[in-house]
Amino acid sequence: MQALHDVLPGGPAFAVRDPAFLADVLEGLSRPQKTLPAKYFYDLEGSRLFEEITRLPEYYPTRTELSILRGRTEDLARLSRPGLAVVEFGSGSSEKIRALLRALPEVAAYVPVDVSGEFVRAEAARLRADRPDLEVVPAIGDFTKELDLPPEIRARPLLGFFPGSTIGNFEPEEAGRLLRHFAALLGPGASLLVGVDLVKPDSILNPAYDDAAGVTARFNLNLLRRANRELGADFDLRGFAHRAFFNRPMSRIEMHLVSLRGQEVHLGGRILRFAEGETIHTENSYKYRPADFEALARRSGWLPETMLTDPAGLFALFALRAG
Ligand code: SAH
Ligand code: AVI
Repeated sequence: MQALHDVLPGGPAFAVRDPAFLADVLEGLSRPQKTLPAKYFYDLEGSRLFEEITRLPEYYPTRTELSILRGRTEDLARLSRPGLAVVEFGSGSSEKIRALLRALPEVAAYVPVDVSGEFVRAEAARLRADRPDLEVVPAIGDFTKELDLPPEIRARPLLGFFPGSTIGNFEPEEAGRLLRHFAALLGPGASLLVGVDLVKPDSILNPAYDDAAGVTARFNLNLLRRANRELGADFDLRGFAHRAFFNRPMSRIEMHLVSLRGQEVHLGGRILRFAEGETIHTENSYKYRPADFEALARRSGWLPETMLTDPAGLFALFALRAG
């Protein structure tokens, strides 16, 4: 099993430094369009900043998805099975599982899978305290990699839960591979509940990723702060600025860090050069039309069963069955 340091409850509470971070940063910053993988946003500070983003007035996805989870309990109840185990990919604060549990009282076990180890262990401990009847088994690691579910979980009926539109942070082709990977992991008979952010006007999309309080800017810049902290790099945080915009032809929000001047950065014995105005592309957040997401799911081993959406059509939860 790769990259999963803790599939047992109550593992050690220390931050596991990702050994691939240095190689991935050097590789990404050597490309003609410099890039950094979005999963590295989520050290402890990054996870806290993301939580702050979810409470911003401009960031509609979290509250909209929560309103669907809280309002559509009867539709969600169709996913219920006695002894069900829910495997959540990219669980973060585990806020949404609490809403889902209200709709699915038969859930007996919960496996939050996330790279943000320290954060997720603390959230798992809080959930255990609130729900002593629920078996909570955190798996710390990258959900795109191999993941061996513990045998006592594998023996249960399984529901995958992938909320937050984290699927939008992958290229559509990668998202398809990820859905196939989840189908193989969860097996025949499983269901998957996926949160998907929908295409909408720029006037709603752009502020959601460039908020007035500058929290998303701090989240974006935290990638450089993390490289300084963990890799001994010397990025000058005042030398880079947050930029986010909706690229409509590509149907994605792009986040970049713009170099405000010509500068050199030292990292891992190398000198990295940035021209004035050059950017590091740090994240994509794809927005789907419902029919396009359904087609992607069908191509990737899943049968769409239900789409639950809010009255304004901002966000959708798709219930899929392994096909
Ligand atoms: N599900 C929560 C959190 C979404 S934020 C919500 O809906 O609000 C995205 C989460 O996915 C973060 O907690 C991050 O640490 C995690 N994550 C991102 N890429 C990951 C990967 N490749 N493997 C495991 N976790 C990942
Ligand atoms: C986690 N993910 C779905 C968020 C998003 O909306 O794409 C990450 C994020 N980036 C900036 N703000 C939020």
